[in-house]
Amino acid sequence: MSRRPVNPSRRFGDSGGGLFSSSKSRSSSILPIGLVILGGLFLIVYTHKGSGGSGGRLDSVSRIEGDYLCSGEVQRALPILQKAYGDSMHKVLHVGPDSCFVVSKLLRQEETEAWGVEPYDIEDVDSNCKSLIRRGSVRVADIKFPLPYRPKSFSLVVVSDALDYLSPRYLNKTLPDLARVSADGIAIFTGLPTQQKAKVADVSKFGRAAKMRSSSWWTKFFSQINLEENESASKKFEQASTKGSYEPKCQIFHLKSLP
Ligand SMILES: *[C@@H]1O[C@H](CO)[C@@H](O)[C@H](O)[C@H]1NC(C)=O
Ligand SMILES: *[C@@H]1O[C@H](CO)[C@@H](O)[C@H](O)[C@H]1NC(C)=O
Repeated sequence: MSRRPVNPSRRFGDSGGGLFSSSKSRSSSILPIGLVILGGLFLIVYTHKGSGGSGGRLDSVSRIEGDYLCSGEVQRALPILQKAYGDSMHKVLHVGPDSCFVVSKLLRQEETEAWGVEPYDIEDVDSNCKSLIRRGSVRVADIKFPLPYRPKSFSLVVVSDALDYLSPRYLNKTLPDLARVSADGIAIFTGLPTQQKAKVADVSKFGRAAKMRSSSWWTKFFSQINLEENESASKKFEQASTKGSYEPKCQIFHLKSLP
């Protein structure tokens, strides 16, 4: 197993203490009935955890509404991605927070192999995630450095949230690297500018707050570094979205791999 130390300088991935603590406090007014429900939830979580495998599913639901909106969005978008990419979904690399959840979901699709890169140190992981990491399916790696994969190792690379934390200086290197390791394209999920929220916790954890850029900013940036939109994928994705009444909560871009 090749788990590399993440970013010794700790600019980016400070110890992920907060990673799985889905911030938002549930409610401020605690009524007895609320307590009963919470107690019930706790029991369910507890028994799930106890049974090993699928623990944390409830957590993942709350996290979809929490810090990592777009990693949750990838999970929702899988059927649409499947329609847009077809056979190109056979070997997928997911890059972004909550990669264990995305990879587990991908692995449940038929004829899909999946790997993940978690860009931040993770600590409080469930047993499912631990076993994915042990098997090398998910690794923790700083994406500011070249990814430890050969060119075109994956058919499709899906990246969520992670790019919002990188400055243009690093995006300049990371994005071409994602294009390098993919063969049939990159699907990028980023936050919408309206989702911008200044979170002090982010700064201590990632070195900087997430910056949600506009669609025109991204389009210009992609062309600056010579990454082209995959128009066929975009079109198919849009058609499938309309058909399936799917409305993404993130911006989604489809880029071509390097020739
Ligand atoms: C990123 O790369 C482009 C093209 O190579 C260059 O014009 C731009 O100045 C770079 N930006 C940064 C922040 O390094
Ligand atoms: C564009 O997307 C299609 C899937 O819709 C994929 O088959 C094709 O390989 C992609 N092209 C490039 C150059 O990445």
